[in-house]
Amino acid sequence: MIFRQLFDSVSSTYSYLLASRAGGEALIIDPVLEKVDRYLQLVRELDLRLVKAVDTHLHADHITGLGALRDRTHCITVMGENTKADVVSMRLAEGDRLTIEGLSLDVLYTPGHTDDSYSFLMNDRVFTGDTLLIRGTGRTDFQNGDARAQYESLFGKLLRLPDETMVFPAHDYKGDTVSTIGEEKRHNPRLQVKSADDYAALMASLHLPNPKMMDVAVPSNMKVGLAQQEIARRGWALNAAGAFTLVGRPDAVFIDLREKSEREKYGSIPGALHAPYGDLQDNIRPGGMLHALAEDSRKRIVFYCAFGERSAMAVQAAQDAGLSSALHVEGGIDAWKKAGGTLVR
Ligand SMILES: [Fe+2]
Repeated sequence: MIFRQLFDSVSSTYSYLLASRAGGEALIIDPVLEKVDRYLQLVRELDLRLVKAVDTHLHADHITGLGALRDRTHCITVMGENTKADVVSMRLAEGDRLTIEGLSLDVLYTPGHTDDSYSFLMNDRVFTGDTLLIRGTGRTDFQNGDARAQYESLFGKLLRLPDETMVFPAHDYKGDTVSTIGEEKRHNPRLQVKSADDYAALMASLHLPNPKMMDVAVPSNMKVGLAQQEIARRGWALNAAGAFTLVGRPDAVFIDLREKSEREKYGSIPGALHAPYGDLQDNIRPGGMLHALAEDSRKRIVFYCAFGERSAMAVQAAQDAGLSSALHVEGGIDAWKKAGGTLVR
């Protein structure tokens, strides 16, 4: 496995680059905008292909690298389902899995620092965001933070992991890089409490100043969405109601870009074919499934995904590859469902 812990000294943020092998797919957790060049250089040097960029929560102290990484690598942007970020490509919930080739991380919903805080567990290590820090815990006094919820996330979930589980947080201000669950149970001063009430009282006594970047970072991090308007301006977008009229038509084919787990959980447009976003380049090149489909049958290719992000990138790539009939459903299955569209499982 390739595992790199990367540090941004301005915001004291740790970002993590993971891959199962050289030459394979990679994902990055909590990337910082100013470090995107460095990450991409490392990705090239290690011969990796970045396919997912993930934030553990909406950060208040730095601007996320999600949007820039998406624009430069066409990777999928991922956050938890409770995020207030406008549009990310994929939203995960407790019990879901965050996967790339050769790696699978379990998604844990661990609110308290914010109401959109998630942790990711990968075998012997857990990425705890700002829920559990080394000898500390994330503050709970803004962004819908809640000390009692954090107590539950800590004592009900993270501290129940095996003691030897390595803890990799999103920040450290003292120079520590890794800890373990057992070590934090014994030595983290915030965890030496008897009850949720004790913990809430401790957190209320901290009186921390707001992060310097907060007024800039929070609004910016809520707008990581791809400009789907540009795709619409080029005439390559259908709204959900427009897409309804194409269901069952012989001259249109819906292409579902989501992963199998998303289709099973949320349902699909009737009659759609499945062609995950990760395989897009292979599918649209000459000899690929979508290339052949567009050429042979003169069908309109109608891409869709969860929120319209992956499909907007796909329609651009398909048009670039000469598939001039390619369209996408703006807003994805989310918009489709809100407009009353039929879904099948
Ligand atoms: Fe945070």
